[in-house]
Amino acid sequence: MSNNSRPKILVIHGPNLNTLGKREPEIYGSKTLDDINRDLKAKGDQLGAAVETFQSNHEGAIVEKIQEAMGKHKGLIINPAAFTHTSVAIRDAVLLLEIPIVEVHLSNIYKREPFRHKSMLADVATGQISGLGVIGYALALEAVISMIY
Ligand code: DQA
Repeated sequence: MSNNSRPKILVIHGPNLNTLGKREPEIYGSKTLDDINRDLKAKGDQLGAAVETFQSNHEGAIVEKIQEAMGKHKGLIINPAAFTHTSVAIRDAVLLLEIPIVEVHLSNIYKREPFRHKSMLADVATGQISGLGVIGYALALEAVISMIY
């Protein structure tokens, strides 16, 4: 399949995920965000999808990126990080999309502090993967691609 006809999948990483590898490795693991993104692009290539990755520490930038996905991307994988628990704006943006959406968390948010148990996205995403570390992203990509074809 030529690059242009491959479905595009957007992967969004929220605040502080740019520090993966250094940040609380006992919780988030030793891989860097570049490692994760490289693996996702390679897996996308194997499965016939073009993976675009985006990270921001800013809520508005994430909202704008989700809006831009309308009509452009066929699936969304999103780890909103701390905004998971607070952002009505990201939730509302996700509601604009009519594509498969998988929410991913490296850690099991339900095993952690009570304020992390609430996800603003959980009931508007297609599904959620929480607590499987970096494998969660690979599984999310497989799931999204299987929902497209
Ligand atoms: C996280 C969990 C969030 O509670 C936290 O704020 C993060 C990362 C995870 O991937 O486990 O930054 O989304």
